[in-house]
Amino acid sequence: MANLLLNCLGSLQPPAPPKLPDSPSFLMPPEASTVAGEIDWLFNVILVICTIVTVGVVAAMIYFVRKYGAKSRSHNEQGEPSSGHNTVLELTWSIVPLVVVIPLFVWGFKGFVNLRTPPRDSLEVQCTAQKWSWLFEHSGFASNELVVPVNTPVRVIIRATDVLHALWIPAFRTKMDAVPGRYTDLWFEATQTGTFPIHCAEYCGRAHSDMWSRVIVKTQDEFEAWKKAEQDKADNILPQDLGKKLSLERGCLTCHSVDGTALVGPTWKGLFGTTESYADGSKVLVDENHLKESIEDPQAKIRVGFPPSMPTFKGQLNDRQLTGLVEYIKSLK
Ligand code: CUA
Repeated sequence: MANLLLNCLGSLQPPAPPKLPDSPSFLMPPEASTVAGEIDWLFNVILVICTIVTVGVVAAMIYFVRKYGAKSRSHNEQGEPSSGHNTVLELTWSIVPLVVVIPLFVWGFKGFVNLRTPPRDSLEVQCTAQKWSWLFEHSGFASNELVVPVNTPVRVIIRATDVLHALWIPAFRTKMDAVPGRYTDLWFEATQTGTFPIHCAEYCGRAHSDMWSRVIVKTQDEFEAWKKAEQDKADNILPQDLGKKLSLERGCLTCHSVDGTALVGPTWKGLFGTTESYADGSKVLVDENHLKESIEDPQAKIRVGFPPSMPTFKGQLNDRQLTGLVEYIKSLK
């Protein structure tokens, strides 16, 4: 048991932690988004008010303890009679805090509405959280890092495939839960180029604290060049390598193994070129067309011995990606 635990711990390779960019503030990460300044300002105002109140309360307490503390004690001594009512005092302790708290509410609410309202022309990024990594997809590319142009509103549409996670970008002062079974979103506009850490801010299991990534903010020109380079890379990738990449990104390998093990679905190893039996009594040769059909319309032919549980991928893959997957399955002899 102890050995098992040690093996488990030993197999966890702690990745290098993200390097924190330089910040002008000792307490805070750099202010790298349009909302960061306002949020820090409100945070500092609340911090100052809390400090004044704390110091005031403690000072008054010490003063009153010294002034009214019993100098000598006797059991039948009567205390000072309490005054029943003091209108001026009661109005003061109601109105003064109200005057302090209402502006804080107004500023906080304005900030909240702003954070929840992405500009209409935002660049949209799909984000998928999964134990224990982030996948970002935009402009047709998938990456484990978020690459965005500077001075451009970006809306990140977030989902989780397993448990709760939370996408947190401290330098942008923004954070949102990733919830299985629904979409959530956040938006930001980066105001400076550079690399900023992304963390998971919801405890999600063993490797939660390793579930970090980076947002890379590029100038508009660098961003266009990056897109072009990614496009070239994507154009030049061998179909079967593209298929291998997709099989990981799209979750195919959750149900299909590549080593001969039967999981929820049939293994891909040695699948191509065999003749298989189907639930309707037919026998079909597994060729390119049959694989294409099974990806786009998985319920058309159900393999004997497997549940009809595969979702369709029709419309989710373009021709190149479909060919890539078929070629990858073919290569698994
Ligand atoms: Cu994902 Cu914590």
